[in-house]
Amino acid sequence: MQSYPINKDDMDENAGASAQCANDNAPFKGIVGQSTTMQDVFRLVERVADSDSTILINGETGTGKGMIAHAIHKQSYRRDQPFVSINCGAIPENLLESELFGHIKGAFTGATANKIGKFEAANEGTIFLDEIGDMSHDLQVKILKVLEEQKFEPVGGCRTITVNVRIIAATHRDLEEEVQKGNFREDLFYRLYVIPIKLPALRERITDLPYFVSHFIDKLNKKKKTAVESISDAALQSLMQHSWPGNVRELANLMERLVVIKGDGQIDVGDLPPKMRNNAPLHPFVAPEISGDGICLNTAVSEFEKRLIYQSLEKTKWVKNKAAQLLHVKRTTLVEKIKRYELEKCA
Ligand SMILES: Nc1ncnc2c1ncn2[C@@H]1O[C@H](COP(=O)(O)OP(=O)(O)O)[C@@H](O)[C@H]1O
Ligand SMILES: [Mg+2]
Repeated sequence: MQSYPINKDDMDENAGASAQCANDNAPFKGIVGQSTTMQDVFRLVERVADSDSTILINGETGTGKGMIAHAIHKQSYRRDQPFVSINCGAIPENLLESELFGHIKGAFTGATANKIGKFEAANEGTIFLDEIGDMSHDLQVKILKVLEEQKFEPVGGCRTITVNVRIIAATHRDLEEEVQKGNFREDLFYRLYVIPIKLPALRERITDLPYFVSHFIDKLNKKKKTAVESISDAALQSLMQHSWPGNVRELANLMERLVVIKGDGQIDVGDLPPKMRNNAPLHPFVAPEISGDGICLNTAVSEFEKRLIYQSLEKTKWVKNKAAQLLHVKRTTLVEKIKRYELEKCA
C-alpha cells in the first residue's frame, strides 16, 4: 500500500519550494499543492505575476481559483495596492454595472449618493472578476471596452474615469464552448485569454489529498481549539476514493465537521459520512499520479479491477450473469473476484 506523509514533519521534508513559504506575506502561504500539476501552476504564477498581462483562471468550483488569483496579486509588484474581488455571477444584473463602474447620485431609484465602483477602487492594484462566464451580453460589451481602454463612465455620469488595473478573471465554465454556443462574446474571450491557468479538479490530483487533510487538521485545531492528532490510513484511503465534485471546498467543509465533532484523537473510517466509507460506491477510476515515493503497481491494478467490477454490477443492477457478460469473463470468475474484493450492494 502506498503511504503518504500525513504528519507535519514528514510533510515539510517533502514540500515543494513554491508552496511552502515561511513568511506571512508569502504569496503561496497556506496553499497546498505537492502534485506535479499544482507545482506547474505555482511556477507559471511566478513567471507571469509581474507581467501585468490579463489572466484567465479556469477550474471547477472549489479548486482554488480565488486563492490563486490572490496569490498572483501578492506575487506581483502591485502587492501593496488593493486587490478587489467581485463575483459577477452572484450580483443581480441590474446592480452589477453600478458595482463595477460606480454611479452618481440620482442615477436610478435608490442611488442616494455617489458610489465608487470596483474598477476605481482597484486602481493601481488588481481586480478579480470571478465567474465572468455568468455575465450578461450587455455587460460583456462594457467590460471589453474597459479592458481595452482602461476607461469607463459611472452609471448616470458623463465623466470618463481612467484607471490602471491588472485584470484577473475566473470561471468554472468552458468559455470556448460558451463562445460556440453564442453565450459569450468571442472578442471578449480573446481579450481575456492571454494567459490561461487551468486548475485541476481534486480527483485529478488526489495525491495532494493527504497534504490537504494534514493542513486542515492543523489549521482547524488552532482555530477551533481542538486536539485531533491524525487520520487513520483506512480513513485516508476512503477519502481518496471519493470523487470530490465540490473539490477543496467540499474537503475543507468535511474536515471542519470531522475535527469539530471528533475533538481529539484519530479520525477513523467510522467517523466519515456513510457514503465515503469503504463500501461506498466506487467512482470511475482516475489513474493516480506517481509521486516521488513511487506506487505499488499490483495495488493500483487491483483497485482498477475492483472499480470496473463494481461499475458493471451497478450497471446491471447486480445481476451477475449480465455483469460478467459486460466484462467478458465467466460468471464464476466474477463471483470469485466479488468475494475477494468484498464488494457489496449499497443500500
Ligand atoms: N491549494 C489550496 N490550498 C489550501 N486551501 C485551498 C486550496 N485550494 C482551495 N482552497 C480552499 O478551498 C476553498 C475554495 O477555494 P476558492 O479559491 O474559493 O475556490 P474557487 O474560487 O475555485 O471556487 C477556500 O476555502 C480555499 O481556502
Ligand atoms: Mg470562487
